[in-house]
Amino acid sequence: MPSIMQEKKRLLTGLQPSGTLHIGNYFGALKPFIDLYDSYDSYLMVVDYHALTTMRNPEQLQENIRNIVKDYLAAGVDSEKITLFKQSDIAQHTELAWIFECLVTVPVLMQAHSYKDKVAKGLEANAGLFNYPMLMAADILLYDTQVVPVGEDQRQHIEYAREAANKFNNAFGKTFTAPTEHIIDGVGVVPGTDGKKMSKSYGNTIPLFGTKDEISKAVMGIVTDSFGGRPENVYAIHTLFRPESELDALYEEKEGNYKALKEVLIEDMEMLVAPMRERRDGITDEQIREVLASGAEKARIYAEAKMQDVKNKIGVTV
Ligand code: TYM
Repeated sequence: MPSIMQEKKRLLTGLQPSGTLHIGNYFGALKPFIDLYDSYDSYLMVVDYHALTTMRNPEQLQENIRNIVKDYLAAGVDSEKITLFKQSDIAQHTELAWIFECLVTVPVLMQAHSYKDKVAKGLEANAGLFNYPMLMAADILLYDTQVVPVGEDQRQHIEYAREAANKFNNAFGKTFTAPTEHIIDGVGVVPGTDGKKMSKSYGNTIPLFGTKDEISKAVMGIVTDSFGGRPENVYAIHTLFRPESELDALYEEKEGNYKALKEVLIEDMEMLVAPMRERRDGITDEQIREVLASGAEKARIYAEAKMQDVKNKIGVTV
């Protein structure tokens, strides 16, 4: 049984290679993962099959996959210490998702906020988009994950993973562990340049690995419609980079001078990002391929054993 092989608790998260990472992805999911991964048996995925729910350009997808692995490494992930892999390399993810789709009902899936939001925004309502939470449940449950660092928008998806685990365990006997979301207060919903949740689809993002010019342009575009002297949208983003105790004095000193405050924010972002950007520039495509190949090898060991257990339980082995 795979669970017997496990010593430390398991931590797992994944990000879609559907575009450029923004600071919402970083503070909501990637940084919490980086802060925790040493104390866990940690898995970090590139969820490329999830990205296929919206992407139709193969060259772009390949480039995004290479980029997101570079982002992970540059942001501080040590690929030797964790299992860093690509979802599509482990066939058991889609295999297990099918089994969950045979257990979780359509009315339950119809309650998914993210599906409703995406369709409301005009995205094609393909069956993959609808079944998205079942593939995510498989991502998590296949590895007996206990803790999943994510942003607030993924809370319901973790509930779906628990639902899939319960349905399976009730039907076929205890097999899956119920995972818990790890959502950090204050960064679960990182606001965008317009004050709404930062999201690629709202066009309100600040790129994590943009050039200084790109970051400056995004920061200068933060909406400053505050009534008092403090530009609330700038301040909210600034709290990600500096403690509020320091910010309060700064915002008092430069009250009403929005441009100067934005310039300080740009410098604070640069302090974090510049060293990462430099590290990122040194990472080659060849390195990326090696990291993904060795990550897939490690992930496959657990996934195969777990899936064999599942197959024995559901009655497809004779
Ligand atoms: P994705 O690729 O949309 O987003 C990646 C992570 O970034 C977080 N995030 C945010 N956090 C705070 N503030 C924001 N404005 C913000 N925008 C995005 C998301 O909450 C997410 O944690 N379904 C997942 C990917 C996934 C996954 C998994 C995650 C697939 N399988 C298994 C964990 C475990 C998603 O679409 O993330």
